[in-house]
Amino acid sequence: MEKEFNLFVCCMLKMNERIVVSSPGKLILAGEHAVVYGKRALVTSIGLRLYMEFIEDTNKPTKTIEIDFQDTNRKYSIDIDCLKDSNPIEVQAICFIYKHFQMNNHIQLNIRSDIPIGAGLGSSAAFSVCLVGCFYLRTNTQMDRNEINQLAYQVECLFHGTPSGIDNTISTYGQSLVYSRQMRTHTDFRLKNLAIIDTGIPKSTKRMVELVRSFVDNNQQQAELVLNDIEKCVDTLIEQPDKIKDIFQQNQKLLKQLGVSNVEIDEITEKLHEHHLAGKITGAGGGGCLIALVDSLTKQQLVDLFKENRIKEVYFVECGVEGLRQEEKFR
Ligand code: MEV
Repeated sequence: MEKEFNLFVCCMLKMNERIVVSSPGKLILAGEHAVVYGKRALVTSIGLRLYMEFIEDTNKPTKTIEIDFQDTNRKYSIDIDCLKDSNPIEVQAICFIYKHFQMNNHIQLNIRSDIPIGAGLGSSAAFSVCLVGCFYLRTNTQMDRNEINQLAYQVECLFHGTPSGIDNTISTYGQSLVYSRQMRTHTDFRLKNLAIIDTGIPKSTKRMVELVRSFVDNNQQQAELVLNDIEKCVDTLIEQPDKIKDIFQQNQKLLKQLGVSNVEIDEITEKLHEHHLAGKITGAGGGGCLIALVDSLTKQQLVDLFKENRIKEVYFVECGVEGLRQEEKFR
């Protein structure tokens, strides 16, 4: 009897395999865009995470996926053999990974996230890493982060064209990293009084990377100097962290030369400067978020300071957190 019961439980588990994972967003402290051209950048993971729940059900029609993006209240029901190009890119990414892992069964994917979307804080990378993580853990008992990261990079390419890989790498491994296309070194970089200022202006990483690409192609000598100077900012920040305010200002000037700042961002960084504070774009620019060293100012004082700038949100977040991990609960 006991044997039969164990067999029954075993079958039920196989029928309804459930995996929950989460992975963090990120802040690029210095070096964005230049990192696409092989330069070093300094990046840290943040205490805002994306969660994904994977449920496999052998009782439902094969080769079908139900997807629930809970934050945006979007639901999709997909038949893998009838996938349309008109499906959103994140749905196509899910199907790409489903096919990659040669799945056949029905899958339900539930997604929720603390990371604001399209704000430069690595929401798409956290999605890519969790997606690969779920399917990977379905077929493997051990988590091989190198393998997961490589495949998550392919998903990121669907979203952004030719990204550097920095976003998926930090989301996979967590902590803080000095990253270039050739190397990855963990660093114990700690920061106090770092605020995130969300401009609320939507941005597209793909478009901003393309914009910089055309600047680099059309101004090769000048661009080489700018990209080298951005890398110098990164190196100085690592060697002399006490110079961070100057470095933020310098890095921001260089990003402006690459064409990824705008009037709203300039106004915010100028206001910070007037108050002897320092800030810069983090991520692709063109909108999204800035990071600022704000000494002892509180969130409310910052909100008041920027009340005329119509910013969306100010966050203080934990930095250097754990990368991809398996969770017990989705909610
Ligand atoms: C985006 O978070 C960072 C960029 O440098 C693009 C990339 O590295 O792929 C703008």
